[in-house]
Amino acid sequence: MSSQKVQNIMQQMTIEEKIGQLIQLSADFFQDGQAVITGPMKSSNLTLDTVYTVGSVLGISGAKKVRQIQHDYLKNSRLKVPLLFMADVVHGYQTIFPIPLALGASFNPETMKIASQVAAQESAAGGVHVTFAPMVDLVRDPRWGRVMESTGEDPYLNSVMADASVRGFQGTDLDGQHVAACVKHFAAYGAPEAGREYNTVDISEWRFKEQYLPAYQAAVDAQALLVMTSFNTLFGVPATANQHLMRDILRNELKFDGVLISDWDAIAELINHSVAGDLETAADLALKAGVDIDMMAFAYSKYLKKAASLDQTTADLIDESVTRILELKDKLGLFDDPYRGITEEREQSEIKTSANLTAAQTAAEESIVLLKNQRQTLPLAADTQAALIGPVAETGDLLGSWSWQGKASETESIQSALGAEMPNLKVATGVAYRSLNQKELAAAVTVARQQDVIIVALGLPSSESGEATSLTNIKLPDEQLMLLRKLAQLNKPIISLIISGRPMDLSEVDALSDAVVFAWFPGSRGAKAISNILLGKVNPSGKLPMTFPRSVGQVPIYYNHYRTGRPITNTPEDDENKYQSKYTDQKNSPLYPFGFGLSYAEIKVKDVEIVADQITTDGKLQVNVTLVNQSSRQGKTVIEAYVHQHVSETVRPVKSLVDFDKVTITANSSQKFRISIPCERFAAVHTNLEKYVDAGQYTLMVGLDSENVVAVPFVIK
Ligand code: NOJ
Repeated sequence: MSSQKVQNIMQQMTIEEKIGQLIQLSADFFQDGQAVITGPMKSSNLTLDTVYTVGSVLGISGAKKVRQIQHDYLKNSRLKVPLLFMADVVHGYQTIFPIPLALGASFNPETMKIASQVAAQESAAGGVHVTFAPMVDLVRDPRWGRVMESTGEDPYLNSVMADASVRGFQGTDLDGQHVAACVKHFAAYGAPEAGREYNTVDISEWRFKEQYLPAYQAAVDAQALLVMTSFNTLFGVPATANQHLMRDILRNELKFDGVLISDWDAIAELINHSVAGDLETAADLALKAGVDIDMMAFAYSKYLKKAASLDQTTADLIDESVTRILELKDKLGLFDDPYRGITEEREQSEIKTSANLTAAQTAAEESIVLLKNQRQTLPLAADTQAALIGPVAETGDLLGSWSWQGKASETESIQSALGAEMPNLKVATGVAYRSLNQKELAAAVTVARQQDVIIVALGLPSSESGEATSLTNIKLPDEQLMLLRKLAQLNKPIISLIISGRPMDLSEVDALSDAVVFAWFPGSRGAKAISNILLGKVNPSGKLPMTFPRSVGQVPIYYNHYRTGRPITNTPEDDENKYQSKYTDQKNSPLYPFGFGLSYAEIKVKDVEIVADQITTDGKLQVNVTLVNQSSRQGKTVIEAYVHQHVSETVRPVKSLVDFDKVTITANSSQKFRISIPCERFAAVHTNLEKYVDAGQYTLMVGLDSENVVAVPFVIK
């Protein structure tokens, strides 16, 4: 039901004004505080008058600029319906948090919520009303560059993080400190064939509902106000034209009643996908699928007026879409204050505050993953004679892609943060990310030779993760591996510190290093967080949200796979039995499993006790988990609970995450934690695509990663 206010506006609107609301333009159409049409924008066929009817714009921020544009727009628009400002505020606005994949690694929904809250608060002060986030696509292929924007490979982890993110962005009442969240990309954009960007996605609806849908559902259940269509096909039809996906699943099953926006030019791409012969048909298909806003394809602006004049259904669909958009504007309070309280003074005082920067640092500290630490190479004493070598040592390129308002040039480097704490640190780059100069390489080896410990800062630049950055080789570049090999020959302890937006093949890095720290793109205060971890001021507690393969040939590799009819047994018999589901040149197991990450404390699972081993489908599984910390350091870890259903109508994953809890355990202690898992988390999708819990036998597995678990049986009655 639309509000009286919205209905009143609707009654006064001409068809042109209605269609205007369904158009989203890029920032190019608004320059120097005014609407303009110049150069390439002319191909849009828009007139200046139409620009003063459009509903939304993307990619503009800054209190002064937004105020000017809104003022000019309202002055020139007949009905004075405020313009909506949308932008990609993904992991921070000016205070940049670690990339979403890293926030996934925190296994801490509170960290995700705070990151989204700060991003909302800063961007709202900068005039943004809607953020194109969270991206909740399930990802299993590190060749795909956009894995960095997701929280990883697990439906449950992604769902918890999606929920936390939407709540962080929108708050409880979407006040002026918050922004509306746009969940993307609906749907299954994270499963492109061969990891190639924009490639075909083809998974069964059963699998889609089991694994891909839950995170979108969690975001919708958390009241996300918008959804964005994905570029890919699903069930044979591009998402942007997919009526089954958008009408049956998104609107009817998920009960989403907010605004559906296309991705950039996605309506026009229906022609390339060859489901539309021309743009007119593309516009019709998208509207019928329920797409409310056309982002930059100019399909709606060119063809909907004619379509509406010929066909009442089209006119009705337009009305539905306009109503949804006006309601969104109403929820954002734009009819009461089209500026949402922004001022340049507020912007000055609320953006990049020290509290926000501290929150970003804490998030980075929560998300950095310690992958290896032989002979307690880490943490380092501050007076260690250490060399810091590698292309990442001196750069501020630590923010990662989708940090539009972040400034890498103003971001502290690892050299600076570590140098401030380690008086004996010597630094040399050695090689660039993907090129090498023999002299510099030799100079770096000389520096390293003089020191006792070598920290090798390796990785990829931010331009190599994010949209349109697919890779076929997920090892570090050859130049960097060459540097590492040379340093390893010096026979000194090697600490490899990796900056990357995606899981990589670290087999050689692991073999050549005594310690490996994976820091993702850690954000504005990432260097300080890294320094705190290396020096032991902070005990690492991040866990991998994606499986790290031994080689790219294992991809896609994920922990929650099915058993197959010929599973390996992980016994010596595997060597004798050829006809098993396995590789002949590589193990099946990953280099580092999902959920894995070490601590400087020695924490182990001592005991897992199910309180009552028979539960009903409306009950909860109560579990007592005793952890022991056999070290003199306090530490944080993640209790991870997985489940396996023994027999079902459809195949069941070997294990699925059903609960996790980030906990602190004091030095030299044993502590009991209670976890309580609602039975609905054990639900399976059946052949009729219905999701429900089966009675039967299950195994609960509890561990501090997905491989080393304590298994206990239970029964659902
Ligand atoms: C294309 C990307 O796929 C999407 O994630 C983003 O929100 C839009 N461009 C707008 O920048």
